[in-house]
Amino acid sequence: MVVCSFIESCCLTDTGCLPYGYRMVATHPSASGSDWWRGDVIYQVYPRSFMDSDGDGVGDLPGITARLSYLAELGVDAIWLSPFYVSPQNDGGYDVVDYRAIDPLFGTLHDADELISTAHDLGLRVIVDLVPNHTSAEHPWFKAALAAPPGSPERNRYLFREGRGKHGAEPPNNWKSIFGSTAWTRVVEADGQPGQWYLHLFDRTQPDLNWDNPEVRDEFDSVLRFWLQRGVDGFRVDVAHGLVKAPGLPDHDEKIVMADGSPKPAPMFDQDGVHEIYRRWRKVLDEFDPPGLHQTKALVAEAWVWPPSRLAKYLRPDEMQQAFNFEFLTSKWNAANYRKVIDSSLTANEAVGAPTTWVLSNHDVVRHASRFGLKDPGSRPNGIYATDEQPDEVLGLRRARAGTLFMLALPGSAYLYQGEELGLPEHTSLPDEVRQAPEFFRTHGEEAGRDGCRVPLPWAADSPGFGFSPTGKTWLPQPTDWRNYAVDAEAADPASTLNFYRSALALRRKLNLGFGGLTWVDGYPDATLAFRNTKGVLVLANLGKKPIPLPPDAKVLINSDPLPNSGKLPADTTVWLQ
Ligand code: NOJ
Repeated sequence: MVVCSFIESCCLTDTGCLPYGYRMVATHPSASGSDWWRGDVIYQVYPRSFMDSDGDGVGDLPGITARLSYLAELGVDAIWLSPFYVSPQNDGGYDVVDYRAIDPLFGTLHDADELISTAHDLGLRVIVDLVPNHTSAEHPWFKAALAAPPGSPERNRYLFREGRGKHGAEPPNNWKSIFGSTAWTRVVEADGQPGQWYLHLFDRTQPDLNWDNPEVRDEFDSVLRFWLQRGVDGFRVDVAHGLVKAPGLPDHDEKIVMADGSPKPAPMFDQDGVHEIYRRWRKVLDEFDPPGLHQTKALVAEAWVWPPSRLAKYLRPDEMQQAFNFEFLTSKWNAANYRKVIDSSLTANEAVGAPTTWVLSNHDVVRHASRFGLKDPGSRPNGIYATDEQPDEVLGLRRARAGTLFMLALPGSAYLYQGEELGLPEHTSLPDEVRQAPEFFRTHGEEAGRDGCRVPLPWAADSPGFGFSPTGKTWLPQPTDWRNYAVDAEAADPASTLNFYRSALALRRKLNLGFGGLTWVDGYPDATLAFRNTKGVLVLANLGKKPIPLPPDAKVLINSDPLPNSGKLPADTTVWLQ
């Protein structure tokens, strides 16, 4: 169901019926919860680093369950759990051995059931991660493929090819792995001789599946049903744009990156064939809608696809519900950039009747409190070393709060990454010997990698490991000054980032901002983001250097940092007004 956001003067079928500047947006959530994904706030939990219950220094499912009330109090509507499946953890669990079992590191299936039912009791929906582009090299299918001969059905579940050149000694094409080096690894055949090559867009321990094989499609239908039967509310689909490769796997001369900003998709990404898969999955999810309701289960695409009109294809009514808005995440700290990306995302998604999502941080990027503190604010290094430019922590946090506040007023669904509610910065001085992200190794240290945004959360300022684990152990070391960011310290400080997030989320929920619409407001300096959410809120964000005048009679609902008495909005500050 699609309705208009500005009920007085809109019609159901034609955006032309709306007053100028108002947008057709998603429906309100019904009491029964259908279409909740159109405007809910979803909090990403990275299980390794959220909360450790058994003292081994690695977060786990019982740890998460124990802290779900913290998330309910924070005011989010749903959680997305990064992978917790059986895995050798070569890529933080994005290398799955068994899609239907929990890695003992994280707990048991019973723990997962407990987590889901506790979350539901607290009114939180649960999205789990699905990793369909590749398995772990330790998956029974891949082991069987290695043991079977070329041309066998076992090999046909993956992308095995003969090599090029003399004796097939060269890889089948020139594709590079996203984590660095070649995207092909050669296997040794049963006769002891070097043989075929297999494709891995990521680490060599993450072989790509062959989605042209019906057996692969059937298997994932079954995995979806397995988790839906356990009560999950949706799936975040890893590398959703990568499952289908161009026929013949043609060479691709440019470096392979997840987002290449090119309107012409690279042969390993965004091929039209992926959409058939999501139409099929949509039908599987629909089987689990309660009678009389539709689309209570959601699919969210991790698809680094550009331009937004191509991304919107994943969100057609018979495919997925949401896609991460990486163009928003990667935008520089500049009002014109944000206006452009907000406009283009809303326009592209409205064309297919889909909500837009907003996100500033996740487990793959430098935390936004640090990105915004760089000389080129909003730039996106692949990790930060102690010898690199160090982010300005104070300025970065100020901008992060301002960015979060304008993000939370935008119509659509917002994603938060664990720890951003504490204002956590990136860890920029991890010693190399503790690093685990595969790209650090595959690029021989050229990229510091993603460990700096995955450091275990600080819960208690005065406990060992800042209360992350009962023994004080943490799988990555925490910066010593994180006691200031600990949950208990921030909870006690009315001006803390935690209390700021709590207030902003409560207000967003009360005003139903995620389900509103947006119109730009003229008359402010260019460095201002000025928009009105149809729920009656005027949002002003000053991304420039000079203070800007605030409307004299407006009532301040919330501000990202203190406002002076001058009646002006300082630089790097956002305010919601009524
Ligand atoms: C995207 C995930 O977010 C990332 O963490 C992972 O390394 C790759 N996909 C490969 O699965």
